[in-house]
Amino acid sequence: MRAHLTVVEHPLVQHKLTMMRDVATPTPEFRRLMQEVSLLLAYEVTRDLKLCKREIDTPLTRMKAPVLDGKKLALISILRAGNGLLDGVLQLIPLARVGFVGLYRDEKTLEPVQYYFKVPDALQDRDVIALDPMLATGNSSVAAIDLLKRAGARRIRFMCLLAAPEGVARMQEAHPDVPIVTAALDEYLNENGYIVPGLGDAGDRIFGTN
Ligand code: URA
Repeated sequence: MRAHLTVVEHPLVQHKLTMMRDVATPTPEFRRLMQEVSLLLAYEVTRDLKLCKREIDTPLTRMKAPVLDGKKLALISILRAGNGLLDGVLQLIPLARVGFVGLYRDEKTLEPVQYYFKVPDALQDRDVIALDPMLATGNSSVAAIDLLKRAGARRIRFMCLLAAPEGVARMQEAHPDVPIVTAALDEYLNENGYIVPGLGDAGDRIFGTN
């Protein structure tokens, strides 16, 4: 059984994350770093995917070689910041199916409000990776995973860039079966629901809004 929380401490991930945290890092650079880090996180989040054997011919001989088992993976971007992670993961797993869950955070209540939901078919037969860079209060992540489970998903993993202890606890309580992979576990949430030290609003930094 895999740990509920995995922090990827690889030096490349940590170095790139530091550059992303830096307020002086401009949007194009931030986006590029996000794509690179998501590739490295995807390597970790897919570590325990099941393999089966397929017969192939190498130039020298016939062999049974490992390939991913089962239906194609489903990557679910939790809009809009999830799209920042999506590109990198798709580079690594180009055949994955892609879905989107649109939730915005009510700035007063910090509660998630759904505005879009479109996911691949047969979710129950797929390994699902939910993508959201910031696991802050955990409210939107928990709500997104609620929706995915209601749509049939049974094997879900959650990949983020930064997690707050509050969000990890909330996920552990609501979805103990969903392993989380993150680049860092930060200190706390401030009164506005931002992760500290954090990197600010991930969506704004990816898309150059504010
Ligand atoms: N969402 C963000 O984009 N940043 C935070 O710090 C918390 C939630």
